[in-house]
Amino acid sequence: MKHTILISDKFDAEGVARLQAHPDLNVIYSGGTKRDELLKIIPDVHGLIIRSATTVDAEVLAVAKNLKIVVRAGVGVDNINIPEASRHGVIVMNSPGGNSVSTAEQAIGLLMAMARNLPQANASTRSGKWEKSKFLGVEITGKTLGVVGLGRIGKEVVRRAKGLRMRVIGYDPFIPAANLSNLEIDIVTPEEILKQSDFITVHAPLTDTTRDFVNKGNLSMLKKGVRLINCARGGIYNEEALAEGLSNGIIAGAAIDVFVQEPIPADHPLLKLENCIVTPHLGASTGDAEFAVAMDTVEQVVDFFTKGVARYSLNFPTMDPETLDFLAPYFKGGEKIGRLLSQFLEGDLNSIEIEYLGEIEKYMSEPVTSAILRGALQPALGDEVNFVNAPFLVKDRGIKVTETKRKECPDYSSTVNVTFSTSKGHSAHISFTALQKKPMVVSFQGLPIEFEPEGILLMIQNRDVPRVVGTLGMFLGDQNVNIAHLELGRDARGGTARCVVTTDELISNEAIAKMKKLENILSVVQVDLR
Ligand code: NAD
Ligand code: MLT
Repeated sequence: MKHTILISDKFDAEGVARLQAHPDLNVIYSGGTKRDELLKIIPDVHGLIIRSATTVDAEVLAVAKNLKIVVRAGVGVDNINIPEASRHGVIVMNSPGGNSVSTAEQAIGLLMAMARNLPQANASTRSGKWEKSKFLGVEITGKTLGVVGLGRIGKEVVRRAKGLRMRVIGYDPFIPAANLSNLEIDIVTPEEILKQSDFITVHAPLTDTTRDFVNKGNLSMLKKGVRLINCARGGIYNEEALAEGLSNGIIAGAAIDVFVQEPIPADHPLLKLENCIVTPHLGASTGDAEFAVAMDTVEQVVDFFTKGVARYSLNFPTMDPETLDFLAPYFKGGEKIGRLLSQFLEGDLNSIEIEYLGEIEKYMSEPVTSAILRGALQPALGDEVNFVNAPFLVKDRGIKVTETKRKECPDYSSTVNVTFSTSKGHSAHISFTALQKKPMVVSFQGLPIEFEPEGILLMIQNRDVPRVVGTLGMFLGDQNVNIAHLELGRDARGGTARCVVTTDELISNEAIAKMKKLENILSVVQVDLR
């Protein structure tokens, strides 16, 4: 089946061509899809590529019945309702990195332009004036640059500013200072950024923690004559405060590429201030960046539809290869265990407890937990549930999920213990591990028993007496059912035992009912894990 990819914003021509050339993809591209067209086309689309012009909100997601991924060619995802996408099981990815250098260069370009009033001097000279003294500038060498946000772009800015002999200080609350030591700058508090900097540049997303980083309340904290740059997102400097500071001389200059409302309204106060340089969101606007971002985006789309790999996913954990290698059997096993337990237990599921023991405790648990939850709902919801929306759907159904981790693991290097309970007080428990990179159940309902959670399984409880296996074998033989595998486990000789039989065919409900009546058989549940 071909997957339909809609590129709804303007996209690099080579990127479009590469997608169009792919045999498994059917590409729709017009250079810009209007909202009403988008709403019409989206029900048949499997992959949506956007830049900043398309808004992916609840209305779009509600009708996007076949949508699997939204890929934002670029960094900022302010135009995507990510929680709503997750609820619909849509993976959201961005393509960061490709435009970091261009944006860092734009920040440095604006810094230089502002220090020497270059855009203003250019406009004045072109208008026939020769205003040499009016455009007296400042040197940047030895001046302090405060960098807020030390991610991809922030780091590129730091390296360039140091090359320009600036003293650089930085602030990023989400990166441990030890991980920034190779930048060789002072990591300081936000207050110190405001107080010490001759120039400030921000390279963080707009969030509740970055909004109004400079505001009317802290204008007086700024070093007098500071110059501010924003190539990240409008609103990180409060625009009214910025206009006030530029008017009263606290702020000597500002160079702003991004605005709260874009395009910037014609009556915006910043447009009236000569000491404010404005550009129309040009940070990533180089042929080099557009090409690099488009190539990353194309690769992400192709990888997703051909290999099932989601890189730079924002609503599902992205794993490095080592983590992926370690977790893969638990991920696969988790889904099967979820399916097994939900078929095994009768009644409304009301809680799921998951314990990660041993080495696995060091790894991220979200992928395995999501897999177990997906498995739990899969018998009821089929393909409607995936790894992204499973946690939301489980929550919507009022199922309580608890997760614990412990370093100690008695018999294996790692095990995952999973317990499902119903509102009627019934519960079922499985421990599983990874053996030779395959998921392996090592205990079921507290009894030690090893079996692969695969195929069609008969989960049998019986008395631990002679001839049970023979009776089962005869019965299944009479039903023309081939046994692929059989495992036994018991608590004590003569006590209660468990038997897990892997069969090649599904057995009818009538046959299961008869089986339950066989001598020494206490219960039989058939589960289908194919
Ligand atoms: P990134 O995720 O690599 O880095 C962002 C950094 O901001 C992270 O390290 C994060 O820890 C930090 N951060 C988050 N909250 C913070 C806070 N309260 N204070 C300080 N730091 C904080 O992202 P990036 O690729 O470097 O992009 C940075 C921003 O630039 C994004 O918002 C992106 O949308 C914007 N951007 C704009 C343009 C443009 O055309 N003007 C181009 C590319 C990116
Ligand atoms: C981004 O977030 O990648 C930038 O703002 C660039 C863009 O939107 O084109």
